[in-house]
Amino acid sequence: MSQTFTIDGRVIPFAEGQTILQAASAAGIFIPHLCHHPDFKPHGSCKLCTVKVNGRHAASCTMRAMAGMAVESDTGEINGERRALTQMLFVEGNHFCPSCEVSGNCQLQATAYHLGMMSPHYDHFFPNRAVDASHPDFLLDFNRCILCSLCVRASRDVDGKNVFALSGRGINTHLIVNARSGQLADTNFSAADKAAQVCPVGVILRKRRGFAVPIGERTYDRKPIGEMVEATGESLP
Ligand code: FES
Repeated sequence: MSQTFTIDGRVIPFAEGQTILQAASAAGIFIPHLCHHPDFKPHGSCKLCTVKVNGRHAASCTMRAMAGMAVESDTGEINGERRALTQMLFVEGNHFCPSCEVSGNCQLQATAYHLGMMSPHYDHFFPNRAVDASHPDFLLDFNRCILCSLCVRASRDVDGKNVFALSGRGINTHLIVNARSGQLADTNFSAADKAAQVCPVGVILRKRRGFAVPIGERTYDRKPIGEMVEATGESLP
């Protein structure tokens, strides 16, 4: 017989070794997340998936489910904290959704809608980040990076290439390309790479594919992010 714990009072079964986020997703409960991807080991960096476990904050993507634990997730307090984190991500980079090719497919934008974010609230940093258009097939717009490290992990762990890395510390952390020139064209990055497919925002863009799907018909235009997991019972990419 499977063991259970509760999320917001609802009884959730889990298998040994499953995280809270995995068990919640399997049960059709959406917990906001950005650095988690079902194909990769949990990273625990964005903290969007934070819940309260027996009254204490924990990242649900890294914390293993345990029998009898009482998890709070969809509460005003926790969603307020998630909203503040999302607002910080918006002001730390340059996210101009109306002109972004990924609008409607962007997990950050969809999460902001899900959390009822009405404004950035904090002062914008307006960082000066150059776009890398050196590669024949891809463009990198670092202005939209949320440091989820999915491209770093995909390139290192799946593609075996180490094309990307996070450099710097604290507020100065930023995504870099591992080439002496710092340019994507000077790497062996290719369209077949897993790293070319995992960006949850609009950093890694395929050239000559802009707006192939019209605004209004995109992933999160058709269904809000919070409803997708409930429809599929699977964690979002
Ligand atoms: Fe858990 Fe990012 S999804 S910390």
